Amino acid sequence: MTAEEEMTDRIVDLKGVSRVIPALDLTKPERYWALMRELRGLVKIVKVSWVTLLTIGPEGLRKLILDNSDVYFLMDAKLADVNFINGLIAGRLREIGIRGVIMHGFVGNVNVPRMEDLDLILLASMTSGGELYDANFDYVIKIVKDVNAAGVVIGGNKPNLIARARAILGSGYVILSPGIGAQGVKPGCAIAHGADFEIVGRAIYESSNPREAFIRIEDEARRADINRCK
Ligand code: XMP
Repeated sequence: MTAEEEMTDRIVDLKGVSRVIPALDLTKPERYWALMRELRGLVKIVKVSWVTLLTIGPEGLRKLILDNSDVYFLMDAKLADVNFINGLIAGRLREIGIRGVIMHGFVGNVNVPRMEDLDLILLASMTSGGELYDANFDYVIKIVKDVNAAGVVIGGNKPNLIARARAILGSGYVILSPGIGAQGVKPGCAIAHGADFEIVGRAIYESSNPREAFIRIEDEARRADINRCK
């Protein structure tokens, strides 16, 4: 897909097209535009967060999305409210151009809103401090299909959980893994165990050359090899 082509509305369509999702947790507004300029034509998906919303505001985020119309914007909202409120927040995010929203899976089936035109991705396991998540891991994986979620987030340092989720979910759902780079997981190792995308924050945006860092990490992720990950 070229930068000029219309962006897909569904993250599942980007499986294999792109493997690295830069996380933009930047605290200076202008850095969002500078980084997106650096990554132009390469990046297919970016993850924004509460840091983004608190730094550039909803109108800033709307503009960032409009200025980068070839990129799928995923909001790491980590929602954990009741169904009605989760649905309201996700709907407002959709209105400003967000295509996918991450929410907690532990809130359970009844609290996951059914969204027609937005990907919902359930956080199933954290990279750190995740004992309570992991105690509910099988439950969260089980409800993915029931709630029509697009997939799950599982820490890249949990290869066994990634492999288990992939075996249960099959190929029609996405697995996103953070923890790559700054937190020590080698690029390609979450993918080698079954993830589709690796979320990379500081290892890209704190690099002296984010474009080169992205290209290198994307290349390593593309050559995912389980033997390098032991
Ligand atoms: P870094 O800079 O560590 O950023 O590459 C990671 C990004 O992923 C988000 N995120 C998580 N990070 N464990 C993490 O360490 C998780 O379970 C997790 N889930 C999401 C984080 O918010 C940052 O944007």
